[in-house]
Amino acid sequence: MKTYLVTGGAGFIGSNYIHYMFHKYQDGIKVINVDSLTYAGNPENLKEFEGRENYLFIKEDICNKEAIQRVFQTYEIDRVIHFAAESHVDRSIRNPEVFVSTNVLGTLNLLDAAKLAWETEDGYKEDKKFLQVSTDEVYGSLEEGNNYFYETTPIDPHSPYSASKASADMLVKAYIDTFHFPANITRCSNNYGPYQFPEKLIPLIINNALQGKKLPVYGDGKNVRDWLYVMDHAKAIDMVMEQGRLGQVYNVGGHNEKQNIEIVNLIIETLAELLPENDPRKAHITKDLISYVEDRKGHDRRYAIAPDKIRSEIGWAPETMFAQGIRLTIEWYLKNSEWMSHVTSGEYQKYYNDMYQ
Ligand code: NAD
Ligand code: DAU
Repeated sequence: MKTYLVTGGAGFIGSNYIHYMFHKYQDGIKVINVDSLTYAGNPENLKEFEGRENYLFIKEDICNKEAIQRVFQTYEIDRVIHFAAESHVDRSIRNPEVFVSTNVLGTLNLLDAAKLAWETEDGYKEDKKFLQVSTDEVYGSLEEGNNYFYETTPIDPHSPYSASKASADMLVKAYIDTFHFPANITRCSNNYGPYQFPEKLIPLIINNALQGKKLPVYGDGKNVRDWLYVMDHAKAIDMVMEQGRLGQVYNVGGHNEKQNIEIVNLIIETLAELLPENDPRKAHITKDLISYVEDRKGHDRRYAIAPDKIRSEIGWAPETMFAQGIRLTIEWYLKNSEWMSHVTSGEYQKYYNDMYQ
């Protein structure tokens, strides 16, 4: 049975990934989830796995060298899937320091701990791998047109967040090049789906609309993001982990470019359609809620991923059409209003104390 060390597994993509993996492999894998539970980490996302013999949650900061080395000494880790990060661009503009600490130094710490545990006299123990979960934002920004980010596109980050992710990627590359360290890097476009913290565009707009609050659209609303359903990302990570050529970078994306304002309009229309006639919220969910606000500083204009390499080498392609994925997502938030109120009130932090202490 393989043991997966998942960092940041209580966050949005990490928790969806753990759901995906247990659904796919059932009791055939063990997952150790190391997460320090920042404001973005919510162990409630994984409550159905608590108590299982093959799931272990460790509340720990990836920057804590001794603690991370202890995890590798205590367990025979076969795979590291490194999600843990500060992930929100707006927060990085206000407070970049924690982004450098977690995203850069935390990654270095993990690389060192894995290298120490996996090294042998003439290389590495067999069948070990580290996967750095990165982002298309490291490539910078595209103008409108028929152009895409490829794995060969030069790194050109603009925000403190993307600069910290690019630095982490460069450290992983340095370990690959210098030490032949067994690793891959995936660079994915914008994810959407269940369990996303409502600071990011899609859950923020859903949550605000349901409460009749203004829907803030930055700048002219015409910035473009390339949206991918989170479970498709989880599948891509698993496939790269199992089939990716060592040392390679793989872009992950859905050829699903949308302007922000299109997303906001679509959420309003879908909510209006899904809410029952007698729901009092239905009346106030209209386009009048849209409010154009000051633009994000250094706002990247357009992201668009070319997922050609992962498709041709590994056979991965996105499976969830946007129309279906956004509906599934909105339905999930409607059904899980308690999750949203725990997250927005901070109530979810009490869950950890009740559950684990
Ligand atoms: P998230 O903010 O929802 O979750 C991050 C998780 O990391 C949280 O559970 C948090 O508690 C944990 N964490 C933060 N600092 C930590 C530390 N020092 N030690 C241990 N745990 C810590 O983020 P997400 O959206 O799920 O993104 C996960 C990864 O995927 C990130 O590396 C991000 O850069 C990358 N990514 C995200 C997207 C996206 O659209 N969200 C797209 C491409 C890549
Ligand atoms: O591209 C991958 C990246 O996608 C990930 O690496 C990041 O971790 C993730 O946060 C996301 O970054 P973005 O900055 O693209 O996502 P965000 O949801 O913050 O914003 C999406 C777009 O919507 C962006 O153009 C800014 C705009 N926006 C965002 C918010 C929160 C608004 O117009 N209004 C808002 O209130």
